[in-house]
Amino acid sequence: MQTSGSTRKTVVLCISGGIAAYKAVEVARRLFDLGYHVVPVMTEDAKRFVGETTFSALSSEPVRSSLWDSKDPVPHTTLSRRADLVLVAPATANIISKFANGASDDLVSAVLIAATSKVLIAPAMHSEMWDNAAVKRNVEFLASTGVVVVEPGVGRLAGGDFGAGRMAEPHEIVARAVGLLEGVSDLDLSGLEVVVSAGGTREAIDPVRFIGNRSSGRQGYAFAEVAQMAGANVTLVSTVENLPVPSGAKMVKVESASDMSSAMKELAKTADIVIMAAAVADFRVEEQRSEKIKKADGPPEIRLVHTEDILAYLGQNRSHRQVVVGFAAETGDPEEYARAKLDRKGADIIVGNDVTAPGAGFGTETNSVLIVERDRDVTFLERVSKKKVAEAVLARALEILRSGLRI
Ligand SMILES: Cc1cc2nc3c(=O)[nH]c(=O)nc-3n(C[C@H](O)[C@H](O)[C@H](O)COP(=O)(O)O)c2cc1C
Repeated sequence: MQTSGSTRKTVVLCISGGIAAYKAVEVARRLFDLGYHVVPVMTEDAKRFVGETTFSALSSEPVRSSLWDSKDPVPHTTLSRRADLVLVAPATANIISKFANGASDDLVSAVLIAATSKVLIAPAMHSEMWDNAAVKRNVEFLASTGVVVVEPGVGRLAGGDFGAGRMAEPHEIVARAVGLLEGVSDLDLSGLEVVVSAGGTREAIDPVRFIGNRSSGRQGYAFAEVAQMAGANVTLVSTVENLPVPSGAKMVKVESASDMSSAMKELAKTADIVIMAAAVADFRVEEQRSEKIKKADGPPEIRLVHTEDILAYLGQNRSHRQVVVGFAAETGDPEEYARAKLDRKGADIIVGNDVTAPGAGFGTETNSVLIVERDRDVTFLERVSKKKVAEAVLARALEILRSGLRI
């Protein structure tokens, strides 16, 4: 994941005393590797689970724990003022309770009470504790004040137990942290399944040759990155080999339109938002040769046939509350074309662009697009980054999902 322009932002990483403290080691390491300045702060009980040397060695500064033993006379406010993000992982029931109730009898809770930056907590505890009414109330209260909560999942817990309350995986926590640090925090896709297709399909002629197109896959990857940062569970169905898969996203590698169709149909069954950002070939070779066509045999005659229309399939066969987004990369009048495509494919949103316009389309860093929806004015975005396009489209998709128009 890129951390463009953010290399020295400071994350105050608070570790409280839960069994998942060992996973916070990975959180510290990943944030450090991404270029963030990581300041570890441990509760006294956290040190019963993982030694402070480990966190000191993998972070940017030594561990702090006490309000009293630092050269800094007011360490909690100094730390909270330095923080671009305060992250608590794991967040015990105890530290959540202190934070929600304004208690501050140790360095972690004092930093939290003094925080003016964004705060992200990753609760971790036994299922019985997670289901407890007081814990629920505390978490809900914190969320209502703007604290971002990375929900725990279901899995193995301390003592060989199994159930809800297992801390989110380090990559998910880091993705949320980066999302907050890099300013996509307004978009909250927590818990939603987002499936994105990316790249141009390759239609084989023979074992070495194919018909392709100029799609770089960057717009699809930008969707995956933004959705991941906003808390979604993201699966990328991609033909691309040379772009880094956003941290935490699942990747299904495909090549042809037919591969992509099978993968998208399967994944769309459980998705909340489906984005067809891939440039799917309209035609494939009717008879793919199993042997390489020999030069000496002269130029071959290749008959093309239509590929399956994946977007139309997804638009017309979706689950009732799913939002389907398609792209119309055309030359000419993109609005007229996008509107027509919206109806023809049964999609909720069509993102149109004129791929021949400067600063737009295939292979460029920026995109100029229009977002076309039913019963709504067109939104124009001029020469914005592909991430901005993704944010705007995902925000619209979320509103459609929430508005119940699809329910
Ligand atoms: C083996 C063991 C595992 C624990 N795991 C958790 C946990 O995952 N989550 C939690 O909220 N408390 C857990 N506790 C209880 C906390 O350690 C205890 O409430 C402690 O006072 C928390 O202090 P702190 O929030 O200041 O770090 C565990 C206790 C033990 C003995």
